Amino acid sequence: MTTDYDPIAEQYQRAKQQPWRTFVESYTLMNLVGDPSGLSVLDVACGEGFYTRMIRHRGAARVVGVDLSQGMIELAQTQETRRPLGIEFRVADARELTDTEPFDLTIAAYLLNYASTQDELEAMCEGIARSLKPGGRFVTVNSNPARDFSLAPSYRKYGFETSVIGDWQEGTPIRWTFHLADGSFEIENYYLSQESHEQAFRKSGFREVRWHRPELSPDFLPQSDRDFWSTLLEFPPIAFVECIK
Ligand SMILES: C[S@@+](CC[C@H](N)C(=O)[O-])C[C@H]1O[C@@H](n2cnc3c(N)ncnc32)[C@H](O)[C@@H]1O
Repeated sequence: MTTDYDPIAEQYQRAKQQPWRTFVESYTLMNLVGDPSGLSVLDVACGEGFYTRMIRHRGAARVVGVDLSQGMIELAQTQETRRPLGIEFRVADARELTDTEPFDLTIAAYLLNYASTQDELEAMCEGIARSLKPGGRFVTVNSNPARDFSLAPSYRKYGFETSVIGDWQEGTPIRWTFHLADGSFEIENYYLSQESHEQAFRKSGFREVRWHRPELSPDFLPQSDRDFWSTLLEFPPIAFVECIK
């Protein structure tokens, strides 16, 4: 599994400032999260804590962020030390989460697309299910498993591009190239079909599974530029899922 974010942790943090992240990714994810006031929330694959902090700011009572990458957790912890929000960050593998402190809500932005096999996907979903109380919710965003990325349009105008390594089949790597002002960097994740995801969710004990498309925030004001977003919204490279345990 390509999960080594240590060398690109700082660049990844800056790529999170691209407008599509704010006006499409964050907007849609936070709509699905809803009002987290008073809830205990676990952010799995929290990275440097982008969504972990956002959810705490939105009123969650207790927030924990876990990630496999020591470099990402160090970036998250540095920010927590600089501006304490009372978030606990620690290194942990999604596949090994326990049921010792179940949460009301677990979120994961771009975790499941790191599974390259059905077994890995199921191990992640089982860990996430263990992290939740009965009736708890899981909200996630990933590379869109309903899209054939070998036929994807160019997303260059949004600041990134995708390409496929090899034939399009279960486990095929998808390469994402992010363009920043001072250069570009790449990450790779994997294609597993929507059916594979459905099966993993059900097998892990999730009873309701709802898929959602990305939406554009009304806060994106320049109306004349709305056409700018059509490629991203009509051929969405990301998909959102909400599951109830
Ligand atoms: C694309 S980053 C997303 C970070 C953050 N959620 C965000 O949206 O900014 C994917 C993260 O998944 C983490 N990751 C990959 N496999 C993991 C696993 N099995 N358990 C926990 N974290 C994992 C990586 O270390 C990386 O920080």
